[in-house]
Amino acid sequence: MNTVVILPTYNERENIKTLLDSIFDVWVNIRGHSLTILVVDDKSPDGTSEVVKQYRSKHPNVILLTKEKEGLGSALLYAIAYALDVLHAKIIVQMDADLSHDPVSLPHFIKAINSGADFAVGSRYIEGGSIPDNWGWHRKLFSIVGNGIVRFGLGYTNVHDWTGGYRAYTEKIARYSRSDLSQYQGYVFQIAYLHKSILRGAKITEVPIRFTDRKFGHSKIAPSQYIRDVLGYITRQRFTQIVTGSFGKFLVVGSIGFIINTAMLEVFVHFGFHPVIGSSFGAEFAIISNFILNNSWTFGSRKVRGFDAIRKFLQFNATSFGAVLIQSGAVATGSMVFGVSFYRWFYLIGVGIGLLWNYTMYSKVIWKK
Ligand code: GDD
Ligand code: MN
Repeated sequence: MNTVVILPTYNERENIKTLLDSIFDVWVNIRGHSLTILVVDDKSPDGTSEVVKQYRSKHPNVILLTKEKEGLGSALLYAIAYALDVLHAKIIVQMDADLSHDPVSLPHFIKAINSGADFAVGSRYIEGGSIPDNWGWHRKLFSIVGNGIVRFGLGYTNVHDWTGGYRAYTEKIARYSRSDLSQYQGYVFQIAYLHKSILRGAKITEVPIRFTDRKFGHSKIAPSQYIRDVLGYITRQRFTQIVTGSFGKFLVVGSIGFIINTAMLEVFVHFGFHPVIGSSFGAEFAIISNFILNNSWTFGSRKVRGFDAIRKFLQFNATSFGAVLIQSGAVATGSMVFGVSFYRWFYLIGVGIGLLWNYTMYSKVIWKK
């Protein structure tokens, strides 16, 4: 099977030759996988590309791509596109080129893919994996806490290592990456790539890896930029999920209900009815509209039908009445404690609590899983 190993380099002159040699050494024991190594270098000023060109003269299956300096994510995307379009890769492996990622793990990555994984993630935080012993406690803590924030922040806790760059994936996963990852040009690419793949249903397998510190050259990561990118990514993803998820729909349905309620009130008053009658009818019409729309759209996947729908509709009326009580309670309490002139503030607080009440009742009681 056509396998491409991508090595992104920026100033790795002292590391790249050793790494290429040891990948070839290891590959001797990997059967049934033809190997192409793709070095993607951002015009390293230290002359990394010269070393690779020299190496290439004896190893034609090493290819050098050269581009402007744009960041790790851009380099990886560029190389992935080349691996797919020009080399027709079936499996792509990516690893750091500073000898932090040991090629001895390569067979485990290939095995994971051959056993059915779409995406094999090198993991330092599972049994058999490790971060360097010689790291000071603060660096260890930073690494562990950082990964924990991503892991729990994105909500996929069965993957333990989100930030690393030692991975293998199938052609199918690599093709996905091209549509929506170009905005992640830096190190945050690693997180976004894994996350988007999971959202698309990729089967993930973790491969334990022992991460070691580089001996030559230095890291190119810019910590403050990286932290900003990562927190920004998590926040945006979570926010989008909330707005486009059932809570967003619930808010849309509620707004439609509010418009119906208000319109009915005005129509009734226009035809000479007392506003109390108008707002009661308006409220009930809004409740009916809310029930129908929430049942068929917001919680459409848990839709209730027939007799069950009637029972749920009565329940829905009861919980809606609960929201009315909360709202009135908030206004009453506020007026009593701070004086009547503050009623608008407490009305808003009441509406807010009422919204949360309704959403909780709908998702946990009426349309419970
Ligand atoms: N082409 C290219 N362009 N390569 C780059 C660039 C770039 O702008 N920036 C970094 N690289 C290459 C490096 O030459 C190295 O081979 C690899 O990407 C990783 O870069 P390091 O500079 O060694 O990063 P690190 O060791 O601090 O980062 C490690 O942790 C990150 C976060 O956990 C790596 O494991 C990263 O892959 C990981 O995302
Ligand atoms: Mn490194």
